[in-house]
Amino acid sequence: STWANLGLQDSASPLMEQLIFFHDHALLILVMITVLVGYLMFMLFFNSYINRFLLHGQLIEMIWTILPAIILLFIAMPSLRLLYLLDEINEPSVTLKSIGHQWYWSYEYSDFNDIEFDSYMIPTNELANDGFRLLDVDNRVVLPMNSQIRILVTAADVIHSWTIPALGVKVDGTPGRLNQTNFFINRPGLFYGQCSEICGANHSFMPIVIESVPVNSFIKWISKNVNS
Ligand code: CUA
Repeated sequence: STWANLGLQDSASPLMEQLIFFHDHALLILVMITVLVGYLMFMLFFNSYINRFLLHGQLIEMIWTILPAIILLFIAMPSLRLLYLLDEINEPSVTLKSIGHQWYWSYEYSDFNDIEFDSYMIPTNELANDGFRLLDVDNRVVLPMNSQIRILVTAADVIHSWTIPALGVKVDGTPGRLNQTNFFINRPGLFYGQCSEICGANHSFMPIVIESVPVNSFIKWISKNVNS
């Protein structure tokens, strides 16, 4: 996201792409309903009361009951499709475990021994000139692009939420529970996220940074960190 971006961020995963399509679809229906109802309400002001003896209108009531139900189906069906698609796990090649703390994230790469680290926000007074304030962290999550990635989210103290808009991921980390989801990053780059459960005084200061790299670079990063 850059300055004055009021819409959704550009997607970096197929699921987020689908979420954006669904958002646009729902918004289009919303605009059409608003325009129609707005037009009807406006036109009522100029209505001359010619139907003084009108007592019932069975047909019109049938139409304006069933029609909205059909319109709602056009939103409900794609919504359900997406809901189930988001929870589908497709043979993940890497599993990342992220644990929410007050107020930082810690990560474990359970597939590879001994790789675990904490990830703290960089305070404004220590920020590099090209850093993003309240968004950059000291230790980034390095993940391979073009691979199915499973994340397991939990928390150590209170409820947190591991949320990355560009990847379409938003999972609560709850103490005593382990939540699972998965995603597929389809381009390299840095993807920023923030905690999105109100978790205490420093809720705003526990960001997430994903560094999406080619698989070769990921393997290099893993082998460098396993040895140390
Ligand atoms: Cu952790 Cu809000």
